[in-house]
Amino acid sequence: MGIKKIGVVGCGQMGAGVTQVCAQAGYQVIVSEINSELLNKGLKFIDSRLGRDVEKGRLSSQDKDDILNRIKGTTDTKDFADRDLVIEAAIENMDLKKKIFAELDKICPKHAILATNTSCLSIIDVAMVTSRPDKVLGMHFFNPVPVMKLLEIVKTIATSDETLEAGQAFGNSLGKVIVIAKDTPGFIVNCLLIPYLLNAVRMLAAGVATKEDIDTGITLGLNHPIGPLALSDLIGNDTVLFIANGLYDEFKEPQYAPPSLLRKMVTAGRLGRKTGKGFYEYNK
Ligand code: CAA
Repeated sequence: MGIKKIGVVGCGQMGAGVTQVCAQAGYQVIVSEINSELLNKGLKFIDSRLGRDVEKGRLSSQDKDDILNRIKGTTDTKDFADRDLVIEAAIENMDLKKKIFAELDKICPKHAILATNTSCLSIIDVAMVTSRPDKVLGMHFFNPVPVMKLLEIVKTIATSDETLEAGQAFGNSLGKVIVIAKDTPGFIVNCLLIPYLLNAVRMLAAGVATKEDIDTGITLGLNHPIGPLALSDLIGNDTVLFIANGLYDEFKEPQYAPPSLLRKMVTAGRLGRKTGKGFYEYNK
């Protein structure tokens, strides 16, 4: 059975982006949040991103309305009872993800594929709380989802070839370029990205250069769109810390050990763009 109806769990930074790209690709999407306040915030964010595209002449207002009409928000996961694919984009907490997957397994039709957008957690652990581990895979999108071309698809030792193929076809239909990775912490991109970001924080803490010069060194010296400290702010310093801890727990290699400055930034609530302050300050 082909994928037509999509569910997205979580309408935060990543969930809102995934919802938007699915609706833009013509899918009917139901997106859930834990309360109506968070749901409305996420839906408003999608509305404003699409509004920006209309302003810039990249989208007609009719297309914007059509995209928004394909999105329905809910606070009740029972609404996923007719979904062909559900993509979970909740916060990075294994217990929570297991709870969500156990619930989705009961609610969703037997043929439905369940995907997680986790950036570092073990996907087989999540899959095994369901009665359909062969239909569970990782779909790791990149932030901001509507801009970033890549989709990392993660195959566990239990994911079937049919599920992998359906996931690939779906990713292609969103216009994403797909890379496939094994279910190992950090997959491809974060396994390489996190040590690089941590080294930039170590360099700043050691006083080798200012944050601006570290970032300019990378943007102009390596042609990256933004430097590592600005990128850590974009991803969320708490998320970077979380992924680093996960990688360190698994590999026990010093390159993944989070530097104390990063821990302190998170403790102080300097999470980056989402809190208005990280390594840099942002207008809310
Ligand atoms: N949604 C949709 N479009 C967005 C967006 C969002 N949230 N944020 C930015 N954009 C688009 C817009 O089209 C915007 O153009 P307009 O101003 O004309 O609307 C364009 O990007 C440029 O945005 P800005 O002027 O605000 O800022 P910028 O020039 O600094 O670009 C950026 C922003 C596209 C994010 C750019 O800095 C960039 O590409 N940065 C690198 C992003 C990156 O590496 N992401 C991967 C993070 S790792 C990850 O996600 C994995 C993980 O698990 C941690």
